[in-house]
Amino acid sequence: MTRIVYVNGRYRPYAEAAVHVEDRGFQFADAVYEVIEVAGGRLIDEARHLARLSRSLDALDIQPPIAETALRHVLRQVVVRNRVRDGLVYLQVTRGAAPRDFPFPDRDTPRTLVCLARPLSRAARAASAAKGIAVKTMPDLRWGRCDIKTVMLLPAVLAKAAAGREGAKEAWLVDEQGFVTEGAASNAWIVDTEGRLVTRRADSAILDGVTRNTVLDAIEIEGLEVVERAFRPEEAHVAREAFITSATNTVMPVVSIDGHTIGDGKPGPITRRLREIFPSVAKAS
Ligand code: PDD
Repeated sequence: MTRIVYVNGRYRPYAEAAVHVEDRGFQFADAVYEVIEVAGGRLIDEARHLARLSRSLDALDIQPPIAETALRHVLRQVVVRNRVRDGLVYLQVTRGAAPRDFPFPDRDTPRTLVCLARPLSRAARAASAAKGIAVKTMPDLRWGRCDIKTVMLLPAVLAKAAAGREGAKEAWLVDEQGFVTEGAASNAWIVDTEGRLVTRRADSAILDGVTRNTVLDAIEIEGLEVVERAFRPEEAHVAREAFITSATNTVMPVVSIDGHTIGDGKPGPITRRLREIFPSVAKAS
């Protein structure tokens, strides 16, 4: 449970933490966010997450709300104050509160910063990884700048809900050319029939996942072959292995895509190996 939330300079009890009704995050989704895994009380790949936060803010011309050293301090405080050992930190920055109008408010409008931490069950995630998950492909209805981590998540919410109704844990989004872009809240990977790891190149159609990058490091360490290219659902249906990556899932095996069994229906050996070595490749701080 989250007990304490940081909001604009104050640590508030969860039930009392609030932002303004005219916050631009609320009215326009004019906001960016990060989700960082917490493992053993430490932040995983914090530097990469903060570098991406800075890129997202720059892309939207939102001034950083506080200095990075101060932000690092706040992230640690929410972990400690909520007594989180294993879980996540969520942080969101909005362009601030102002009377509703499309143009940007004055540059000196204070940005809104919210940080919270929450425990997640290690056992539940391990159980899910031992079995593997099902995914379902869905049309990608998002905008053209999916490389920016904005809170504009309605297409992802709807795709996940539709996938969920068909018994799948994640939706794999498919662009107008018929290629998988990524998961609704994760990056998508397959091991092709030649045994090569395949994931889409990090262009503006996907979020360049922090976990994706750490997995690319792990692949290099393992001496495995990787190709960054788009693939179609039809190729995924006959892949040797498949998995998703994201901060809280790390490497999560996929054993069914659109009802097609992947491999022998159990998490594949390359996927298991990458999941196993992930904690030693990721940077904990
Ligand atoms: N989602 N692609 C999308 C669309 C995502 O929303 C995410 C993360 C990823 C993986 O990125 P990373 O490895 O940096 O977590 C890829 C987060 C976890 C979320 O929205 O909850």
